[in-house]
Amino acid sequence: MNYSLLKPFLFKINPETAHNLAICALRHNLVCAPKVTEYSSLQTKVFGIDFKNPIGMAAGFDKNAACFSNLFNFGFGFVEAGTVTPKAQIGNEKPRIFRLVEDEAIINRLGFNNLGIENFLNNVAKKTKRNGIFGINIGKNKDTINAIDDYLFLLRKTYAQSNYITINISSPNTKNLRDLQKADELDLFLTAIFSEKENLKNLHNKNIPILLKIAPDLNAEEQQAIADIALKNNIDGLIIGNTTISRPESLQSKFKNETGGLSGKPLLTLSNAVLRNIYKLTKGQIPIVAAGGISSAEDAYKKIQLGASLVQIYSAFIYQGFEMVEKVKKELDELLKKDGFEKISDAIGTYKD
Ligand SMILES: Cc1cc2nc3c(=O)[nH]c(=O)nc-3n(C[C@H](O)[C@H](O)[C@H](O)COP(=O)(O)O)c2cc1C
Repeated sequence: MNYSLLKPFLFKINPETAHNLAICALRHNLVCAPKVTEYSSLQTKVFGIDFKNPIGMAAGFDKNAACFSNLFNFGFGFVEAGTVTPKAQIGNEKPRIFRLVEDEAIINRLGFNNLGIENFLNNVAKKTKRNGIFGINIGKNKDTINAIDDYLFLLRKTYAQSNYITINISSPNTKNLRDLQKADELDLFLTAIFSEKENLKNLHNKNIPILLKIAPDLNAEEQQAIADIALKNNIDGLIIGNTTISRPESLQSKFKNETGGLSGKPLLTLSNAVLRNIYKLTKGQIPIVAAGGISSAEDAYKKIQLGASLVQIYSAFIYQGFEMVEKVKKELDELLKKDGFEKISDAIGTYKD
């Protein structure tokens, strides 16, 4: 099966059913994968890990690690599964995913629907052959009062099972989650996380990078605080960022006022502004994974030039299919050559107004 043939059918059914069908087809390897090409210019080392290319599948697509190993067949350098929580939870009431077709965007208010960490790790254990870097994105259960307990529990559970771990405190669909990004709370939170990481590092005798995924809706003061706290805690990386609760004026779709996080094309400008600012505030000392509105090689290249070391995509796959990964890689290689960069790492932070 090929995505361009499937798309008209998938767009006729509701987004969540379409998503579940896609996961099922991918899990059983029923979707045609393209010929995958790797480019020496795109190979890169970030937080001590070798990536064959900087294009990643963003979190939220494969919440239960049901199909991540087959996603590598589409040419991704890395795949992030989750968000997974300690216990299974059903998430918010349906409908909770909306396609804003005119805007090439999505609004979701899923609320960390997932089958819980035990199911997730069973799936991970079955797929030991991985043709790329595998990240696990962790979050808290809706009814957990002391959030840090869930994150420490999941850190211990996942540490030996992935190449990196993302701490997600930026989903807009879990009440009060984003409050963890506030300066006082964040400092205490990250101190606890990174002290546990030291224990786990010694226990397993390996260093697993821990990344923090932040919202694109932080104001200048909040961005400054996050940059300071991230530097102080020596965090391994930042993901900038999650979906936005803002609604750009340009939105056309009748779904534009649905509650939830907006992703896709209209998120590009906002997420680029935050990326650029945080890169400056952290003086390029913390590797950044950029996500938000990427729908072409030019978009990915701009994120790299604004300070990203790696990029992730989600919404554009709904509109263009996974064939897009190989196209972005090929064109990114051309863009680098055109500007005289031998390696992608040479282009990081080179953006000039
Ligand atoms: C339907 C949907 C579900 C998502 N679920 C998660 C999630 O569980 N955890 C997470 O960290 N991000 C989640 N995201 C956010 C994406 O990982 C990404 O940060 C965001 O969509 C911006 O990238 P994009 O514009 O390329 O989609 C989700 C996004 C969408 C569209």
